Amino acid sequence: TTVAWDPVSAAKGGYKHFMHKEIFEQPRTTTDTLRGRVDLETGRIDLDGLNLSDAEMQQLDCIYAVACGTAWHACLINKYFIETLARVRVEVDYGSEFRYRNPVMNERTLLLALTQSGETVDTLAAMAEAREQGVKSVAILNAIGSQAGRLADGGAIYIHSGPEISVASTKVFTGMLMAGYLFALRLAQARGTLTSAEIREHIQALIEIPAKIDTMLKDTAVYDQLADLYHHSTDMLYLGRWVNAPIALEGALKMKEISYIHAEGYPAGEMKHGPIALIDERMPVICIATKDHVYEKMLSNVEQVMARGGKVIALINPSDKLVRSKADHVIEVPETTPLLAAVLNVIPMQLFSYAMAVRRGADVDQPRNLAKSVTVE
Ligand code: G6P
Repeated sequence: TTVAWDPVSAAKGGYKHFMHKEIFEQPRTTTDTLRGRVDLETGRIDLDGLNLSDAEMQQLDCIYAVACGTAWHACLINKYFIETLARVRVEVDYGSEFRYRNPVMNERTLLLALTQSGETVDTLAAMAEAREQGVKSVAILNAIGSQAGRLADGGAIYIHSGPEISVASTKVFTGMLMAGYLFALRLAQARGTLTSAEIREHIQALIEIPAKIDTMLKDTAVYDQLADLYHHSTDMLYLGRWVNAPIALEGALKMKEISYIHAEGYPAGEMKHGPIALIDERMPVICIATKDHVYEKMLSNVEQVMARGGKVIALINPSDKLVRSKADHVIEVPETTPLLAAVLNVIPMQLFSYAMAVRRGADVDQPRNLAKSVTVE
């Protein structure tokens, strides 16, 4: 007998789509982002490639985090990481806006560019604008040998996720969060906003992330069940608060990109200012309700959705009772620290959009009208 073989299916390594393969690579890729950069014994963070002195990091008073697409969502989350851990103000911009809005910058400003390819034209333009005004750029990057790597005079932090083939970004997103967290800890170390004992605790939580992702990938039957139930939906809403508000945006983006279902992400507190008008029995609402200081607020958002007949799919921790007793469906996410929950909570978003796209027969890896990297304006 002969076995059919072609280079593309060989590259997929037994997975049906690159996106599926890349989702399942995340226990390894998140480990690779950390490799050689953290020391649990001493609490040292060592970012090879970063070209900023401790003095430069100490005097920062504003970081502009700039990107496009999924990387822009990673910027939003890195804002929480950096502001919480290193106490520097972070402003998040789209590359396409930053370049045209004459941003206020001075010698205490840093530009932080997030880009998988390092070739996205709007992100590069933001870096060029910073350089023109004498402001250094640091890039969080995946591709080696890119333009962004050359423009990053403040250094590059490579996420080491390996090639990402699927247009919809998955492993690179979690890589950008892991790298952003490391950068936040490195800033905290230079600025003295965390003690080395505290940094050690953060490192401990970080290095536990890959195994937790692995657990989440063990049984994915729930996503197929949900796709069976909801693949005819025309609209979906994603809600989260605090660090999970951007995860709601990213969940909705993934769903739009590959399943072509209209989906919107909102910070849950904004629901009453508009999207609540859309909720009825035909509207699945994904609610991110893992435990943190805004959990009670999320619980009342879940109740508000249910009161209007919306179907709630909730992300909860295994110990959760309250949201579990109310939601139509739950997806369990292992416990971690409140900030790092963002890294775990995006995994169900990826798996759900993937299951929906497959169920709808969409071209998962090559969605219509989209490009992996956008090098023209
Ligand atoms: C395109 C891709 C997205 C990506 C964005 C930014 O829109 O389809 O997946 O997030 O570009 O790309 P970059 O290479 O700068 O991260």
